[in-house]
Amino acid sequence: MRMVDLIEKKREGHELTREEISFMIKGYTDGDIPDYQMSAMAMAIFFRDMTISERVDLTMAMVESGDQIDLSSIEGIKVDKHSTGGVGDTTTLILAPLVASVGVPVAKMSGRGLGHTGGTIDKLESISGFQVEIDGETFNNLVNKNKIAVVGQSGNLTPADKKLYGLRDVTATVDSIPLIASSIMSKKIASGADAIVLDVKIGSGAFMKDLESAKELAHAMVQIGNGASRKTIAVISDMNQPLGFAIGNALEVKEAIDTLKGKGPVDLHELCLTLGSKMVYLAGKAENVDEAREMLEKSIETGKAIETFKTFIAAQGGDDSIIDDPSRLPTASYTFEVEAKEDGYIAEIIADKIGIASSILGAGRTTKESEIDLAVGLVLNKKIGELVKKGESLVTIHSNTPEVTEVINRIYDAYSISQRSVELNPLIYDIIY
Ligand code: URA
Ligand code: CA
Repeated sequence: MRMVDLIEKKREGHELTREEISFMIKGYTDGDIPDYQMSAMAMAIFFRDMTISERVDLTMAMVESGDQIDLSSIEGIKVDKHSTGGVGDTTTLILAPLVASVGVPVAKMSGRGLGHTGGTIDKLESISGFQVEIDGETFNNLVNKNKIAVVGQSGNLTPADKKLYGLRDVTATVDSIPLIASSIMSKKIASGADAIVLDVKIGSGAFMKDLESAKELAHAMVQIGNGASRKTIAVISDMNQPLGFAIGNALEVKEAIDTLKGKGPVDLHELCLTLGSKMVYLAGKAENVDEAREMLEKSIETGKAIETFKTFIAAQGGDDSIIDDPSRLPTASYTFEVEAKEDGYIAEIIADKIGIASSILGAGRTTKESEIDLAVGLVLNKKIGELVKKGESLVTIHSNTPEVTEVINRIYDAYSISQRSVELNPLIYDIIY
């Protein structure tokens, strides 16, 4: 087999076979197929697209390019959740203990934040003593015992995807539905998921800017999941403004605690129940999603959800007294209020601008190596649609330096205030089965 023939075949719009895709991904991972040939192929795929079976074959070839996590010693159906990324997205921290509290095994592998989106591992590290590095056996035992464990990424998962993603980034081939969908799904499948719930975000803070492209991506991932025998459901949700109020590591842990106690922001609470009920249903713990939702609501009401969070923190060496006293989490030295300059309705809070403002305070990384400040971040006091009076606080800044002019300017740049009342976007746009 020759790569040049495969490039030509795809260039002419023909379907590649499983053997051809496997040859190409294996050869590329091993370094036998050079970047320039893979670039040409990525561009051919960009223009010619891939059939469903090509997408499944590409996904599985990438899964097989590296290590695969074996969760078979964990009882039950392991359901993983994936978000295409957002600002202030605290959902994993809430969903993991929430669905575990009704008996769904949560064996979660999570990443650190890069750029202006946060990572669950960083958030958990703001809990004193919490261990994110645990060996595979301990991990599996913890999930069997408590239904929940979260570990940092390790091992050599989907090296083909890492290499290809880097190449796409510099060859203008990132924005290709078959390439994005197979990239995301290969990582989930390699991490050992039996079933997958996807949160596809749309809006100013998201990868997909409009509903049509978000739906297309969601359908593509659901088809790949089902084609690879992993039941998959996608929820399309709004990221036109940050989720919840808090952006920043310790601040989001506090927000997660509030939400698990039933006192969280409405949007975050609702998104967690929507995603969580799909997870419980896919895990076979409820007959349908409505029943699943009732189970989760009840678990929050009775305190079982927050109790599960507490058990989870203690089991991984963390200080579980933060549950009853969140003031024991790291706190910043200074707070500043960003005051509204006029009366009106909040019309816009551009999510990625808020994410960057939080990152400048030190809550996010600019490079993989940079240290982050777990205490700092932003708390939104006004969200889209709310009425605000001149002088009222839009945002509270939590900072470890007194110099926050640039952060304030960026927050003003993210917010817009309108004289007329504004129409709210739905939180959930669609659900794709
Ligand atoms: N996220 C991924 O993991 N892969 C892509 O291709 C795009 C976004
Ligand atoms: Ca949040």
